[in-house]
Amino acid sequence: MRTVRTQVAIVGAGPAGLVLAHLLHLDGVRSVVLERRDRAYVEGRVRAGLLEQGTADLLRDTGVGRRMDREGQVHEGFELRFDGERHRLSTAELCGRTVTMYGQQEVVKDLIRARTEAGAPPYFGVDDIAVGDLTGDAATLRCTLGGQPAVVRADFVAGCDGFHGVTRRSVSAGRLTAYERTYPFAWLGVLAAAPPAGEELIYAVHERGFALHSMRSPTVSRLYLQVAPDEDLARWPDDRIRAELRTRLCPAGEPLHEGPLSRHGITSMRGFVVEPMQYGRLFLAGDAAHIVPPTAAKGLNLAVSDAVVLAGALAAWYARGDRGPLDGYTRTCLRHVWRAQDFSASLTRLFHPYPGEDAMEARLRRARLRRLVGSGAAATSFAEEYTGLARDPAAARRGAGA
Ligand code: APR
Ligand code: PHB
Repeated sequence: MRTVRTQVAIVGAGPAGLVLAHLLHLDGVRSVVLERRDRAYVEGRVRAGLLEQGTADLLRDTGVGRRMDREGQVHEGFELRFDGERHRLSTAELCGRTVTMYGQQEVVKDLIRARTEAGAPPYFGVDDIAVGDLTGDAATLRCTLGGQPAVVRADFVAGCDGFHGVTRRSVSAGRLTAYERTYPFAWLGVLAAAPPAGEELIYAVHERGFALHSMRSPTVSRLYLQVAPDEDLARWPDDRIRAELRTRLCPAGEPLHEGPLSRHGITSMRGFVVEPMQYGRLFLAGDAAHIVPPTAAKGLNLAVSDAVVLAGALAAWYARGDRGPLDGYTRTCLRHVWRAQDFSASLTRLFHPYPGEDAMEARLRRARLRRLVGSGAAATSFAEEYTGLARDPAAARRGAGA
């Protein structure tokens, strides 16, 4: 039996696990990353693509932002369409913050490359992890590495294995409390090989359902449509997707470039938080601990922010024997997590007609949209939450002395 000894065993090579491994490396803490899928799968998975300013700054500050700076697009605002009107909100003017459009899988590729160049690439294809001894002297992970049975012994386990991962489920029954909400709709997402209709994102609220026009590059658009929660993709041939996008996004015949569609997928809408985010030697980060509906694109940003808090806490423990930040991990993260949950839930409620919504509710929603575009105070508050002003992982890491 092969035995691997490390300080931190990281389960999952998504943004949470990879950012954590990268920061620990910079802090001189040893880790191994164990990922169930193969590298091509992880690097090709299309997810959200909006980086809050603090997330982009963190990648830049820690030396993995060069391609993002070349290929990503900095956005100073976005457009909101409803009732046949177009409104622009400038986050740069409202709160001095921008966001960067850069696909999550591009962030993942850059981080895997950095790990590989540092001589510690993730182990891919590890799909049989069994977590044990979380409350003993050292945690153990049993799995198969390179075809051989192996045991990984670590001081700590970072559960970065997403919502369906194994680490959260390995905590003894009754130790964690889950808070959960599902929404009565989903998003159908596609990539279009077509230049975006404009330079900024377009959020369109329409009585037939919400639509979002986002982008990945000057030649690739990313489009979403609100659909039923159990929607069957087979019922959405490309012509129907195009027609529905046009109806919802361009009610006054605004331009929309068309091109071949690919990567069709349905994203369910769920809010989920588990408390606490730690148990014994296990610390959960990212989607393993919390899920937000995709409306405000907070998932990736929260994952990065957890990773920064956890890396700082582990570094404090190894450098100074200071256990305080590790003990406070849940408290520090949950403040941000619940704030982002609240914004994501309220944005989801604002933008989507609920099935069976009555005329009263529809008018209340319109009144809230009007207040957003008509009140400077409302717009500023929105811009602060949208750009993640109060949760800046780059500032948190600089503050931690790294
Ligand atoms: N063993 C090892 N790896 C696992 C296991 C397992 N049992 N189960 C899942 N994984 C891997 C997945 O294959 C995936 O690569 O863990 C990784 C988790 O990555 P993400 O799902 O991307 O989660 P996270 O890193 O927390 O990032 C959150 O990703 O899901 C999006 O929209 C979400 O943007 C958010 C972000
Ligand atoms: C995306 O590009 O995937 C995206 C952008 C903004 C959002 C949600 C998703 O609010």
